[in-house]
Amino acid sequence: MSQTVLEPGGHQSCLGCTRRQDSWWAGPTATVATILAFIIYSTWAAFQGEHYYAEPYLSPFYSPLLLIKPDVAGGAPLDHAWFAGWPEWIPAFVTPAFFILIFPGAFRFTCYYYRKAYYRSFVASPPGCAVGARMPGTYDGERRLLAFQNLHRYALYFALGFIVVLTWDALIAFMKYNPATDRREFGVGVGTLVLCLNTTLLACFTFGCNSFRHLVGGNVNAYSKHPVRFKLWSWVTVLNRRHMEFAWLSLFSVGLTDLYVRLVSMGIITDYNTWGF
Ligand code: FES
Repeated sequence: MSQTVLEPGGHQSCLGCTRRQDSWWAGPTATVATILAFIIYSTWAAFQGEHYYAEPYLSPFYSPLLLIKPDVAGGAPLDHAWFAGWPEWIPAFVTPAFFILIFPGAFRFTCYYYRKAYYRSFVASPPGCAVGARMPGTYDGERRLLAFQNLHRYALYFALGFIVVLTWDALIAFMKYNPATDRREFGVGVGTLVLCLNTTLLACFTFGCNSFRHLVGGNVNAYSKHPVRFKLWSWVTVLNRRHMEFAWLSLFSVGLTDLYVRLVSMGIITDYNTWGF
């Protein structure tokens, strides 16, 4: 009778070999499809450089607007920029999104949950529990080149800053500029709700981060002496338990929010709202 060769951890020794009867491949396949679709769309949106603004909505892919390229269709008014002017020496293909996307990108890429997802689905190392890996027996931890994953705790600080900025964008989305009165007026549009929902999901993803949980509750010997930190740690733990869900929901929401702003800016869809002008 033939004997199945098992690697440590119960994995069989050939790629994809398993005794599992369930659809273990569905998760990794969906992960590849979703992440590839997001990378393609977000890269296109970043290079596209137009229609990222529809008063008073700003796409999260372009926020914060450090610099604004003038005379761009669907671009933000120049006074929305943090810094004035667009330096001549910047190559023509560069858009305002180029200055910022590296930060949320690095935060997601090094996230503990996403690592598990893409190690399984893109590297097949292994593709699932008790499923044969691509190079069985060669994994020896996140060392050498993979040590860059330690950047996650630093990427967190930038991600927290982005939550502040996006919260401000969501608040501004209640105040639309009325050219007739030359004032911003309070109201609510579908876009306002879209931006609020996106910021909420991104905040739930960011505040549920393992590094943030350590930041608020780590290095404490006795929580009884640190009740505030214990309370914060407890709240973060609630989000942390759902980190996978928020990782996916916020990925969808940030892409769909850009799409919504883009379609409104292009005049393809109407933003139903209370302003009436
Ligand atoms: S562990 Fe996922 S964002 Fe930090």
